[in-house]
Amino acid sequence: MNEEGARYLPVSKAESRLISRLRLDGTQAEALLHAMRTGDAGRQALVLSPRAPESYTPPFPCTGRVEYPWLPRRVYVPTEGAMPTRHEDYARGFYYVLDLSSCWEGAALSALTNPPQRSLDLCAAPGGKSLLLAAQYPLVDHTANEVHAARRGILRQNVEMCALPHTRVTGWRPDQWAESGELFDLLLVDAPCSGQSLLCKGIRNPGCLGDAVVSGNAKRQRGILLQAVRCAAQGAHLLYTTCTYDPEENERVIAYILRRVPGWSAVEIPVLAPFRSSLCDFPAYRLLPHHVIGAGGFCCLLSKTESPES
Ligand SMILES: C[S@@+](CC[C@H](N)C(=O)[O-])C[C@H]1O[C@@H](n2cnc3c(N)ncnc32)[C@H](O)[C@@H]1O
Repeated sequence: MNEEGARYLPVSKAESRLISRLRLDGTQAEALLHAMRTGDAGRQALVLSPRAPESYTPPFPCTGRVEYPWLPRRVYVPTEGAMPTRHEDYARGFYYVLDLSSCWEGAALSALTNPPQRSLDLCAAPGGKSLLLAAQYPLVDHTANEVHAARRGILRQNVEMCALPHTRVTGWRPDQWAESGELFDLLLVDAPCSGQSLLCKGIRNPGCLGDAVVSGNAKRQRGILLQAVRCAAQGAHLLYTTCTYDPEENERVIAYILRRVPGWSAVEIPVLAPFRSSLCDFPAYRLLPHHVIGAGGFCCLLSKTESPES
């Protein structure tokens, strides 16, 4: 860490372990520590729902593709001071508000070679990723799945509020989906994780930097992905995303899947090229507070290129 980074000393053992695992330079480390201390890195974005008319634009100033060239279709970034949740169009379900870094992850969907026909969001509540998918591919036959009953209720409300088309809400575990024999050409795994980026949005998350929490989450993520790949049709894509920083829950989870499951590879996401992770030799992308695009996250798009038999 450089002298600037030293402004945030004393750094806890867990923070310094994270900085070293992420191989951050002084400026990047300083931005991360600053964001974790102040909780001010969250940045709002909004995604237009199918309820909004085709020609609709938000009724307050927004920045767009010039500043964020990767911004997905029908996603807007309100300028500072705008209060999108206070506008009546929000209550009418014309848009849904989420962190800009979630939209950054949603940009990965632009790399699909063909519009998906059937999609399954295995970890869907409260529904942000499903809505981002519908904004880009409104014709897809979509299943928004959430295992936790209370969260499934919120998901159902959001699906109705935003009038997501061709969408059913379900509550199966990933292994139940794998056993069902249903196949999809797009799978979304926005995995439960240690949520380290929540600290940068001012949300308390005690223990999220601890080794046991991180490795417990990594184990669960590997488990979910091992079931998710069994739901993939030939030629399918799987988008893996988290809102945490530790490589053990990100690059290392994907490396494990690529090693364990034959016939899958990670594919390039051209619009996210400036964010390519230097922590692995396959294409994966990470966002950190020094990018100033919300609290941060990780995404990797996998493609089923061959059948396991071949
Ligand atoms: C990061 S959140 C998903 C956020 C959502 N995709 C969105 O964009 O609004 C992860 C979700 O995974 C669910 N989850 C927790 N454990 C799970 C498991 N073992 N299998 C599948 N989903 C799980 C949680 O209930 C939570 O709703």
